[in-house]
Amino acid sequence: MKLPDLDSLSFPTESRILLRLDLNVPIHEGEVADDSRLIAALPTIRSLLDRGARMALCSHLGKAAGAPDPRFSLGPVAALLSRELGFEVPFVQDCLSGKRGSLLDQHRVILLENLRFYPGEKKNDTGFAEALAEGFSFYVNDAFGTAHRAHASVVATPGLFDRAHKAAGKLMFSEIQALSRVVHDPEQPFAAVVGGAKISTKTAPLEALMSRVRTLLIGGGMANTFLLAQGYEVGRSLVEEDMLDTAREVMDQAKERGVELLLPSDYLVADAIDAPEKVEVIPAGSIPEEMLIVDLGPESRGRYASALADAATVFWNGPMGVFEVEAFSQGTMAVAQAMADCPGFTVVGGGESVMATKKAGLEERMSHVSTGGGASLEFITGETLPAIRALEE
Ligand code: 3PG
Repeated sequence: MKLPDLDSLSFPTESRILLRLDLNVPIHEGEVADDSRLIAALPTIRSLLDRGARMALCSHLGKAAGAPDPRFSLGPVAALLSRELGFEVPFVQDCLSGKRGSLLDQHRVILLENLRFYPGEKKNDTGFAEALAEGFSFYVNDAFGTAHRAHASVVATPGLFDRAHKAAGKLMFSEIQALSRVVHDPEQPFAAVVGGAKISTKTAPLEALMSRVRTLLIGGGMANTFLLAQGYEVGRSLVEEDMLDTAREVMDQAKERGVELLLPSDYLVADAIDAPEKVEVIPAGSIPEEMLIVDLGPESRGRYASALADAATVFWNGPMGVFEVEAFSQGTMAVAQAMADCPGFTVVGGGESVMATKKAGLEERMSHVSTGGGASLEFITGETLPAIRALEE
C-alpha cells in the first residue's frame, strides 16, 4: 500500500502533531558530537511549522534500559535544536509528562525526553503508546534510522492513528526512495561493496544483494573469513570460524549466478593495531603468523576502485579495514573516493561507512548518504520494515 506522505497530510493550523525522529546522536561531554541526524530532520520540522502545526518531537537515544539514565538524556539535543531553529525549544524531562499540553499552548516545538526511559517503548507496549499519543491528533514518523525496530513509538503508536492522520516525514520518504532504487530497480551494472568486521551480521543483506548485483566487493574483517575459507593463513586476524560455510556458500552462489566476486588480493598487515612496530604489504595467502590484517593493500585498492568506476549503481556498507586508525584507513577512503568519482547512482548505507565518507569530505558527492545503519541494511534485504508497515496500514 502507498505510504502516506507529509505533503498529502491535511491538518488544520494549530493541530498538535507527535513527530517521531531518530535523534540517537553521539553525545560527548554534554555536547552533540555529530549533528547530521538532527540536521536531516529539520526539513520536516520546518515544513510542519510553515503549515502552522504545534509539535512534540520524540526519539530514543543510546541503550537506555527502560529507566531514566542521565547518560542517555536528550537534553543536549534540545539546546542544539533551539540554536538551529532560532527559538527556544523547551525540553520535557519525562516523555509522558502531563505538562506537554500546556507547554504546547505556549510553544510551537517541544522536545520530549528519551522514549527508552520507559520499558514500554522497546516492548511495543500499547499502554505506553496510548499515553505517548494522548493529546495529539496527528502522527508523523521521520525516524528512518529506527524503522527496523518494532518499538512502541514507531509501531504501536502509528497503529492508533488512521491513514488520514499519519504520514512519513520528508527524510523517511527520501531514504525509502533512494534505497528502493537500489533494492527494486537497480540500474545495471550494479556493484555492492560490503565490509565491516563480521559476516554473521550481514548474511541476509549479502544473500539479497547476490540476486541483484553484477559485482560484489568484500572487504574489512569479514574478508578474512573468506580468506580462511579458501584455505589461506590469516595470522592473528579477526575471523569467524563458525561462518566458514557461509563464506563458501557466498562464493559458490556468486559462481552459479555469474556474479563477479572481488576479494582482496593483497593486504596491509601490522603486528598490532595500537602503536604497531611493523606494518607491511603482503599478498593474500602469505599472511605471517604473528601479523594481523588491518586494511586493503595497494593492488586491492586499485582493483576495487576500477570495479566501481563504470558502475551505474553502487551500494556500500562497512569499512575495508580499521579505518578509525588513520594509517589503516586507505582502503576505506579509496572506496569512498571511487564512489564519489563514479557517475552512477551511489548510496552509502550504514554508520561506519557514513563516518568514513564524512571524514573524507565526500558526502556531497554521493547520490544518497543514509542516516540509518541497521535500517538501511535491513531495507536492502527487501523486507518491509516494521515502522514503514505501521504507516502504511
Ligand atoms: C541507530 O542508531 O542505528 C538507530 O537509532 C537504532 O538504534 P538502536 O540500534 O539502539 O535500536
